[in-house]
Amino acid sequence: MKTAEVRDKYLKFMEDKGHKVVPSSPLVPENDPTTLFTGSGMQPMIQYLLGAKHPLGTRITDSQKCFRADDIEEVGDNRHTTFFEMLGNWSFGDYFKEEQIRWMWEFFIGELKLDPKRFYVTCFGGDEDAVVPRDEDAPRVWQELFGGVGIEAEVADMGSEENGGKRGMREGERIFYYDSKKNWWSRAGVPANMPAGEPGGPDSEMFYEFPDIEHDTAFGEYCHPNCDCGRFIEIGNNVFMQYKKLEDGSFIELENKNIDYGGGLERITAATEGSADVFTIDTFQNIINPLEERSGKSYEDVEYQESFRIIADHLRAAEAMIEEGILPSNTEQGYFVRRLIRRSIIHADKLGVPAGELSENETIKAEEEQFRKTLETGKKMFNKLGGSTTKLGEISGHDAYVLFTTYGFPIELTEELAKEAGLSVNLQEFKAEMKKHKEQSRTGAEQKFKGGLADHSEKTTAFHTATHLMLAGLRKYLGEHITQRGSNITSERARFDFTHESKVDREVLDKVEEYVNKSIQAGAKVEIEEMDKEEARESGATGAFWEKYPERVTIYTIKDSEGNVYSRELCGGPHVESTADISKFGKFKITKESSSSAGVRRVKAIFTEE
Ligand code: ALA
Repeated sequence: MKTAEVRDKYLKFMEDKGHKVVPSSPLVPENDPTTLFTGSGMQPMIQYLLGAKHPLGTRITDSQKCFRADDIEEVGDNRHTTFFEMLGNWSFGDYFKEEQIRWMWEFFIGELKLDPKRFYVTCFGGDEDAVVPRDEDAPRVWQELFGGVGIEAEVADMGSEENGGKRGMREGERIFYYDSKKNWWSRAGVPANMPAGEPGGPDSEMFYEFPDIEHDTAFGEYCHPNCDCGRFIEIGNNVFMQYKKLEDGSFIELENKNIDYGGGLERITAATEGSADVFTIDTFQNIINPLEERSGKSYEDVEYQESFRIIADHLRAAEAMIEEGILPSNTEQGYFVRRLIRRSIIHADKLGVPAGELSENETIKAEEEQFRKTLETGKKMFNKLGGSTTKLGEISGHDAYVLFTTYGFPIELTEELAKEAGLSVNLQEFKAEMKKHKEQSRTGAEQKFKGGLADHSEKTTAFHTATHLMLAGLRKYLGEHITQRGSNITSERARFDFTHESKVDREVLDKVEEYVNKSIQAGAKVEIEEMDKEEARESGATGAFWEKYPERVTIYTIKDSEGNVYSRELCGGPHVESTADISKFGKFKITKESSSSAGVRRVKAIFTEE
């Protein structure tokens, strides 16, 4: 099947089960300062998993663009990619385990016609780290489903991944218990690593077997579903999102028992084609085929497969980012665009793709041109290093690190040049330097809360909705030229930057305040609509970051029962359901107005009892 066909089938399937289909959120999360990129389908859904009401109901489905930077070095095997689409469906306190598992079976086996004999599942076995006991329900449902097609599925206890490799699988076993490391899901991993406020829960993963792939003992003595040799490929994860961690480290059960399913669209598509290699699907072959022509090399040739895979993944990821307006740079998201493009160029050179023929994308072309100049300087630098270290016969880890950070030399390139010069590279030292570098940049990211919402508490969410009203008020009294330039919202206050040339008089601020408070008193409903971006623009919706949004967007309209519209704005949420929910925090008050930068004003607002 083609990728688009699998995506459509899934969304249609979930629609038939009562789900509302929503568009993918942007790759760069709008109101979540904790990560640079959206890494899973549930990320834009956090507030609803924690109990906020989704405007479209309790059953939602989508195909979310995801980027996992941690996987950059993994790309090259048959299944890892940095960028992928995650098919997802959510129950916000609606259906639970039993329905979810049965639907998965119906979808994978019934709809996509995967072979049940090659289908394996894992369940939460509990361990000393466990917040909850072993999951007895999921295996029972799975067993019944396997039984329905004449497969007697035995349950086995693997414990840890390592243990799985020592024990292996026995005849008839299809349902495997693993510990918290493998079958507990939260954005931060095992319960102990979760920050306060984070939701998580036990899960049940589904794997598809590719019997033609021989087990590789480098990954453990015996093969098992969680073995990394590539014989078993994960095609989805059903998370039973039931718990939330508290400040004191304990866990409480969420009021809503939620389902969070996520499955990689590309892997699922490959499975429908019986291919263990995700890069054989149309999405990747469309990138690989022209490069085969331009390089005269074949993807089938194992010598070149890794380079083709890296380029296919990296170009697709870079293009998706560029499409959202992220340009190559040395910081934050832009750093990844740069790194992805540069790594692609190194591999294009390995394949012999002529310079300038890697991609039609103008941004990528420009970055290539710049990188080629950098490469020349870098190579000179390398030769100097080579010269100074020939005695030791080794490029130090530190030098390799400097080449990486200063000249954007991926380690493979340094290794390659070293090989040509008859030198080795101290990889251990390089990795240690990189680890230090990563830790530093992580600390940096944590300290830097710049925009969006600090958290998704009720009060912060109320501030966010009130900010929409404030923007509408500013536009009403100052003019339509006003657009948002940035926001920074905590549960204490909202800070909001907008375009305007001169100081805003207190009188005007009073009017804006009054507008906001009147809208709050009106108990206006916050309505969410999904539409094409063009249509949304033409309908006059306010928005500042259109280019960051995909073709289908969500528009939030604040409207009272008489049809008066208080605000209509492009946004990704979260918002309160009704402005009545804001009133309990007091009156909205603008406490400060100042200059932020040239042509940009900044206001600060709070809720007050007076
Ligand atoms: N959120 C789960 C995952 O990303 C489904 O695997």
